[in-house]
Amino acid sequence: MQCIRKINEDLYWVGAEDRRLALFENIFPIPRGIAYNSYLIKDNKNILIDTVDYSVGRQFLENVKYVLNGEKLDYLIINHMEPDHCSLIEKLTYKYPEMKLICNAPTVKMLKQFYNFDVDSKVEIVKEGQKFSTGKHEFSFIMAPMVHWPEVMVTYDITEKILFSADAFGSFGALNGNLYNDDVNFENEWLSDARRYYTNIVGKYGAQVQNLLQKASNIDINMICPLHGVIWRNNLQYIIEKYDKWSKYEPEKTGVLIIYSSVYGNTENVVNTLANYLGENGVKEIAVYDSSNTDVSYLVSESFKYSNIVIAATTYNLGLFPKVENYLLDIKRQNLQNRTVSIIENSTWVPGIVTKEVNKILSEMKDITILENTYSIKSSAKNNEYDNIKNIGDEIIQNLKTKI
Ligand code: FEO
Repeated sequence: MQCIRKINEDLYWVGAEDRRLALFENIFPIPRGIAYNSYLIKDNKNILIDTVDYSVGRQFLENVKYVLNGEKLDYLIINHMEPDHCSLIEKLTYKYPEMKLICNAPTVKMLKQFYNFDVDSKVEIVKEGQKFSTGKHEFSFIMAPMVHWPEVMVTYDITEKILFSADAFGSFGALNGNLYNDDVNFENEWLSDARRYYTNIVGKYGAQVQNLLQKASNIDINMICPLHGVIWRNNLQYIIEKYDKWSKYEPEKTGVLIIYSSVYGNTENVVNTLANYLGENGVKEIAVYDSSNTDVSYLVSESFKYSNIVIAATTYNLGLFPKVENYLLDIKRQNLQNRTVSIIENSTWVPGIVTKEVNKILSEMKDITILENTYSIKSSAKNNEYDNIKNIGDEIIQNLKTKI
């Protein structure tokens, strides 16, 4: 059966939900599932905007057929060629042989890489700013390379002032019947997954996201239709401001994120004592994560949120504990910048390894300030070593005051 939504007189949501997939891109846990959004506009010429992942293809094809109601599908706009959106293109060319593919030049290259059909006979290449009409609706195209792949563009429906934004402004999470931002409590229910989606998937490309935001600021937008997550039909400034902050690598919260590893609980004891000291002394925004039982995508996301990070790690096989090392390499890969870091290490055989390794990775990142006070735990913390924790806490508190 069809599962569609009418958005306005001509525009339909024809996407689908996947709650079976455990790992998006076979790497990111999605306990709330994922929505693959696709949009169909009925006009003199009918036009579809992007497709969906193959896994939900049956639902999608049924939706498209239902909305077309026996009419032709004239065009498919391809904003993004990642297979979670492009995998039904070939099937559509067989079902709707007259359909033309509206895309940019880099997309043509990718179409030929992914598919065997005669791409050249199907495509109409568009460029930045070019206008395209289906009758009542006129569209223009804005190139958005690296948001999130090199070929990405976004499509603007000039007639309705709707931005079809590809991956931008998307989120993990199935829609569960609530299609719009004002259908849900976005801050409580969606923001953390929107942040985790952005920071892990597009986080590295802050400059390119800034570029897109700049271009989008020149057009009048009533609605944002992304390829994942809710459609934004009001309060657009909220999500645009989040994107602005994330892409400038500005923290959302002046607060402390503590990420630790602890093999037998001794480092964890110090972490809990430090968090307790911070809380006792008025710090409200504190988050603590054990790197061993938290998927790194959550740690990356939280690192984009907080101003200060404490790394508390054990030495492991004369190196840095692998889960912490993986986390640090991941925030470096995502280009995280502009954070203040405190370091705590624990060693039983050779002191200094953790501090050296953490410093090495941080030194390869931009605008990272490392606070002076550290604590080199020798296997376990002793009562007479409490001042080490207090000094780290006091330095963090002083640092936070400079950021309020
Ligand atoms: Fe949702 Fe980059 O694809």
